[in-house]
Amino acid sequence: MNIVETHELTKIYATRLKKGNVVALDRVTLHVEQGEVFGLLGPNGAGKTTMVKTLLSITTISSGEALINGLSPSNPTSREKVGFLPESHRFPSHLTGMELLHFAGRLSGMSTVQISQRTDMLLKLVGMEKWGGMKLRKYSKGMSQRIGLAQALVAGPDIVFLDEPTDGIDPVGKMEIRQVLKRLRSEGKTIFLNSHLLSEVEAVADRVAILLRGRVVRTGTIEELTVKDSQYEIEADIGNKTIDIPEEMGRRISLTSKGMTVALNNSEDINSIIDKLRMQRISIRSVKPLKQTLEQSFFEAVSDSTEPEA
Ligand SMILES: Nc1ncnc2c1ncn2[C@@H]1O[C@H](COP(=O)(O)OP(=O)(O)OP(=O)(O)O)[C@@H](O)[C@H]1O
Ligand SMILES: [Mg+2]
Repeated sequence: MNIVETHELTKIYATRLKKGNVVALDRVTLHVEQGEVFGLLGPNGAGKTTMVKTLLSITTISSGEALINGLSPSNPTSREKVGFLPESHRFPSHLTGMELLHFAGRLSGMSTVQISQRTDMLLKLVGMEKWGGMKLRKYSKGMSQRIGLAQALVAGPDIVFLDEPTDGIDPVGKMEIRQVLKRLRSEGKTIFLNSHLLSEVEAVADRVAILLRGRVVRTGTIEELTVKDSQYEIEADIGNKTIDIPEEMGRRISLTSKGMTVALNNSEDINSIIDKLRMQRISIRSVKPLKQTLEQSFFEAVSDSTEPEA
């Protein structure tokens, strides 16, 4: 089941600047399945925060459609089981961490008793059990992000929207937040993660969409986005035999006595290549699709979409 769905979602900010209106989201169609970690990636200004704001009715939709739990964001019931960690948040600094959790819980309609039953567990989950009694104004950036994550979880949401959750957090802290996200996922929560940190999203997300100037330019599982188009590494005892690859099938990128790398026009042709090798009685040890990092895939998507339109 899809917990978030958008169809041709568009957001245009009216500005008084000379450059006129800003198209922050341009016909975005995507979905988030229940129980998955969905990463929305994109450079600064791509529209990630705007996306979350439209889904949570913090800003209006210009055109198109959005649904959360099957309901329009304009219906407050759509947010009953939703947690949110905003980007660059400023929680009231006179509160302690514990008081913030109570404040957030009360806003979600929880009783003081219900909140108290969860605070110890939440502080522990985000590694803040020692700091719950300290005022937020004394918190470091990393501590603020952790308590922000805890307040997003206070009402036991089904889906949490996290806008740059590791902003300002050191590498160890980042890894700890990643563990928290993995644990939430194992509990069946859905996570909508906005980030420009590719390696971080790669480590935790099931599926991603790449947003660029308000448009989705690529979407898929991490696996789909990191497999290089129809390129294969074949480990085989080729020795000094010659293997010709017909031009219409693709090309060979490298060849050694121990194997070769091929780029095919159609990934199904890998079977014909294997047949060719076997016909020459060459023993094949492995055939692996070539991988690239999410970062490489991201830059490819960015450069593809900046090519002049025909
Ligand atoms: N309230 C607003 N009024 C006018 N323009 C806005 C407003 N909020 C955002 N924008 C513009 O909309 C575009 C998308 O901004 P948004 O904050 O959604 O990007 P982002 O992907 O979250 O960027 P970042 O990685 O820096 O957080 C930008 O061009 C931004 O200047
Ligand atoms: Mg943002």
